[in-house]
Amino acid sequence: MTDAACPASAAAQAGMERGVKSRLPMTSNFTPDHLLARSLASVWHPCTQMKQHEALPLVSIARGEGVWLYDPAGKRYLDAISSWWVNLFGHSNPRINAALRDQLEKLEHVMLAGFTHEPVVQLSERLAALTGGRLGHCFYASDGASAVEIALKMSFHAWRNRGHVEKKIFLCLEGSYHGETLGALSVTDVAIFRDAYAPLIREVHTVPSPDARLTAPGETAFDVATRAAAALERVLAARGNEIAALIIEPLVQCATGFAMHDAEYLRLARQLCDRYQVHLICDEIAVGYGRSGTFFAHAQADIVPDFLCLSKGISGGYLPLSVVMTTDDVYGVFYDDATSLGFLHSHSYTGNPLACRAALAVLDIFEQDDVLVANRSRAAALTQHLAPLANHPRVHHFRNRGMIWAFDVEGVGADFSRRFFSEALQQELLLRPIGNTVYLMPPYVLDEATSVLLAKRTLLALNATLTS
Ligand SMILES: Cc1ncc(COP(=O)(O)O)c(C=O)c1O
Repeated sequence: MTDAACPASAAAQAGMERGVKSRLPMTSNFTPDHLLARSLASVWHPCTQMKQHEALPLVSIARGEGVWLYDPAGKRYLDAISSWWVNLFGHSNPRINAALRDQLEKLEHVMLAGFTHEPVVQLSERLAALTGGRLGHCFYASDGASAVEIALKMSFHAWRNRGHVEKKIFLCLEGSYHGETLGALSVTDVAIFRDAYAPLIREVHTVPSPDARLTAPGETAFDVATRAAAALERVLAARGNEIAALIIEPLVQCATGFAMHDAEYLRLARQLCDRYQVHLICDEIAVGYGRSGTFFAHAQADIVPDFLCLSKGISGGYLPLSVVMTTDDVYGVFYDDATSLGFLHSHSYTGNPLACRAALAVLDIFEQDDVLVANRSRAAALTQHLAPLANHPRVHHFRNRGMIWAFDVEGVGADFSRRFFSEALQQELLLRPIGNTVYLMPPYVLDEATSVLLAKRTLLALNATLTS
């Protein structure tokens, strides 16, 4: 066993150095400067019970190229989930690299309050044009959760500026995920992330999800969407005057286990929000930028939200960048002589020029390579290669939307996700199921040979997990 494959030994050394020897297993093959040991000793990894790394190896990555990530010894992993759904055009993409090199020579950063620069202006203009000019005002932040915070605050503040101080409740869907800062967590309905912090977070109202898996016999996804919208209307009719906004992940609720729904729900939600004077926030942090098959997911319902949150793919997976886009109507409510009516929110790195330049290179690639059209054939091919998985006796609800695939594995224990992850690594795949849901969200540069490999090895990883 190499050092890289034996993190327990690394962890043991890390523990010795930090004086927590008794909590870590001891083996002998480590080197003092081993990266895994140093990481366990000094880096508090996200979304992780650190103690589990006593048994589960950390994976060290030295470089990336296209869909592949490479460890220091050259072992490769196909990044089949685009590194937490951020990467669109492969790692170390030459065109994004070139844009960043050019920008580095010009301007790395300037504060955006009182100052502006070409990349942020161009990006805002191009994003607005992609919404047909209907969301013409871009407010920038860094991560997805910070965009959600902004949309929630802006919605509340817009109503307040209009004299509706009573509108301070938010609606979210069952199983929703919008991030983990306190405001975003309040509209996140995933117990494992939320429960510990319940006393800290605001009152929200959760409405039924239009999850297409909830079809009763004889029902279609459209019927589930209509039923969920009827439940939404009941809440709006009862409490609409207190509700500021409904926040939705359009078409796919990713983090809850890739619950997909019919676009009819978005159409009905838009109508209901208009009828009851409630803002509609579309959180396309995960599903925007072509993931759902169209550039923006909400376009499939032919609606316009009041707020659109984007992040992840916006910079091609290079740099933290997020944006909240909104309408002239909302923008106008803040535009006043009184400073206090303005939106006085900021982050130090808002509109960072390097991140915006990466984002411009991403939009160039979409245009120059006709990515949405190419993705249609890419998606059809992968769906075909995945047919043996779709027909696997333990697989239920095999589903696909654009460049997202997911399926649920029946009859597995609570450790399925971790065991599948390890088996997938053996197959040179980076795949991290959510509970019993396995999903694939590859970068948009997956070629035919790699698509075949991905499908075959996902099946091998599943069978190995089920028989181990
Ligand atoms: C729909 C959605 N909203 C918000 C977020 C939070 O984004 P971030 O992790 O960048 O804070 C995520 C992250 O997965 C997401 O999927």
